[in-house]
Amino acid sequence: MQVHNFEKVWLGVALLLIVGFIATIAYGSVGAGISMVDDSGGTISAQAVQSGETGTGFDDPGVVKQSDDHYVVYVVARQFQFSPGSGDNPIRVPADARITFKVTSADVTHGFSITETNINTMVIPGQVAEVSARFDETGTYGLVCHEYCGAAHHTMGGSVEVVA
Ligand code: CUA
Repeated sequence: MQVHNFEKVWLGVALLLIVGFIATIAYGSVGAGISMVDDSGGTISAQAVQSGETGTGFDDPGVVKQSDDHYVVYVVARQFQFSPGSGDNPIRVPADARITFKVTSADVTHGFSITETNINTMVIPGQVAEVSARFDETGTYGLVCHEYCGAAHHTMGGSVEVVA
């Protein structure tokens, strides 16, 4: 069978694309891959988070004062609440101090977004998402789960109270 040179070129291009796509899938998570998740807080066992046996601040989540100017907030997300954060247990932090949120999940992937701020991260079981911020003004901010996490996802939220 005769194959035209023009056709050979296109066959070669198609082959290169296929190899390229496979390489992207196989190696996309390393090297030049894009890291979508802020996992600067490291990894953690979601099982241990669930049973409260991580040996970290997640076992008794809440606000921990490090110094007058730095507070760490441990938050556990689970279907369908943040603790602290949801219901009658808002996250209460002072204004004009560095606040580091460490958030992890006890079950599935959730989101952690504080309204009117740029604090916004995915919360993936097995990983600790870490974001720091400083609130200039006192007030109450909304807390929203922005990743679909199950039937009651739309009810998953809470509040952050910034006090003087
Ligand atoms: Cu948690 Cu949506």
